[in-house]
Amino acid sequence: MSAQHNPAQEKATIELKGVRKSFGSVDVIHDLDLKVEGGEFVVFVGPSGCGKSTLLRMIAGLEEVTDGDILIAGRDVTDLDPAKRGIAMVFQSYALYPHMSVRENLAFGLEIARTPAAEIRRQVEAAAEILKIGPLLDRRPGQLSGGQRQRVAIGRAIVRKPLVFLFDEPLSNLDAELRVSMRVEIARLHRELGNTMIYVTHDQTEAMTLADRIVVLRDGRIEQVGSPREVYENPANLFVAGFIGSPRMNIIDGTCLTANRVSIAGTEIELNRPMPATPQEVIKLGIRPEHWSITGRQDNSLPAQVEFAEYLGSTRYVHCKLANGDLVTIEQRGGQDAKPGEGLWLNCHQQALKIFSMSGEAR
Ligand SMILES: Nc1ncnc2c1ncn2[C@@H]1O[C@H](COP(=O)(O)OP(=O)(O)OP(=O)(O)O)[C@@H](O)[C@H]1O
Ligand SMILES: [Mg+2]
Repeated sequence: MSAQHNPAQEKATIELKGVRKSFGSVDVIHDLDLKVEGGEFVVFVGPSGCGKSTLLRMIAGLEEVTDGDILIAGRDVTDLDPAKRGIAMVFQSYALYPHMSVRENLAFGLEIARTPAAEIRRQVEAAAEILKIGPLLDRRPGQLSGGQRQRVAIGRAIVRKPLVFLFDEPLSNLDAELRVSMRVEIARLHRELGNTMIYVTHDQTEAMTLADRIVVLRDGRIEQVGSPREVYENPANLFVAGFIGSPRMNIIDGTCLTANRVSIAGTEIELNRPMPATPQEVIKLGIRPEHWSITGRQDNSLPAQVEFAEYLGSTRYVHCKLANGDLVTIEQRGGQDAKPGEGLWLNCHQQALKIFSMSGEAR
């Protein structure tokens, strides 16, 4: 545990109350409510342009709110200067001062704040220890790797001892291997410091592994807030079902025949539970790639033709076409390699099947 550890800092909640943001006549965030608990790690995900960065920048005070209130640690900060909010933000581009050493980069904010020299030295060394950049303190940013530079950027946030860390896609400039190791570092940082953190990412694995709770945004609105397991296993609607998970959940059309018989791509399937739909009603069925088996012909199996297969070592993704032309992706572990053009029979695991109405609501 670092010398900076301060239990009182762990408790900063963040509350967004009826927050709205418009750029001119364009509404970007619509009447949004969210409470982040003290010490919680919350991840914002959603398609490009849905408002993740805007929301984070509003919390940071870098963007004015059009309406609503923002509270940090119970204090209304809506109109407060960014420097007085107790936040530190880390961006995708690390923007270090190139002519300064790592040590000077880390110290800069504290010097501006006229912190005594001994205290600055102590803070810089504590941050360097947490981030394992002690041996790099006398180098310039140009003499560091991308991952090391991002560590320095995080170090600059740490020395400010913020109540809250805000991260906007901090790892997206790094190569795949570095992303994995930095992801582990960020998880460790959260465990060690215990601060409230909000983290924006496009990376499904980062979201699933780092988050206490994931906030799924679309067009400036929250679609679902839940633990990674909740949003993955019980998506609130079709949007969340299709967004969370990689590869995506297969969404296929079915026509209700009787309470528990459904027609999918011309084949009748008996469901293990009644569906909340009336005969002839079209429903959407959501089935994740790992919830199919290639079975041979049997009751409830669907005929399909292999389009192509992707070999990933421990697993294979077999992309198949159903009789009506709909494509589904099947995750296969073991068994024979599927060949393009080959006919297969597929069975879905009904416990894992999600049924949605056409309007996209979960049923
Ligand atoms: N200064 C601005 N003026 C006008 N529109 C803006 C401004 N900043 C952002 N927007 C718009 O607000 C919407 C949300 O942008 P934002 O940057 O928050 O999206 P995002 O979810 O972070 O996307 P990405 O994943 O691509 O980073 C977008 O439609 C964007 O074009
Ligand atoms: Mg963004």
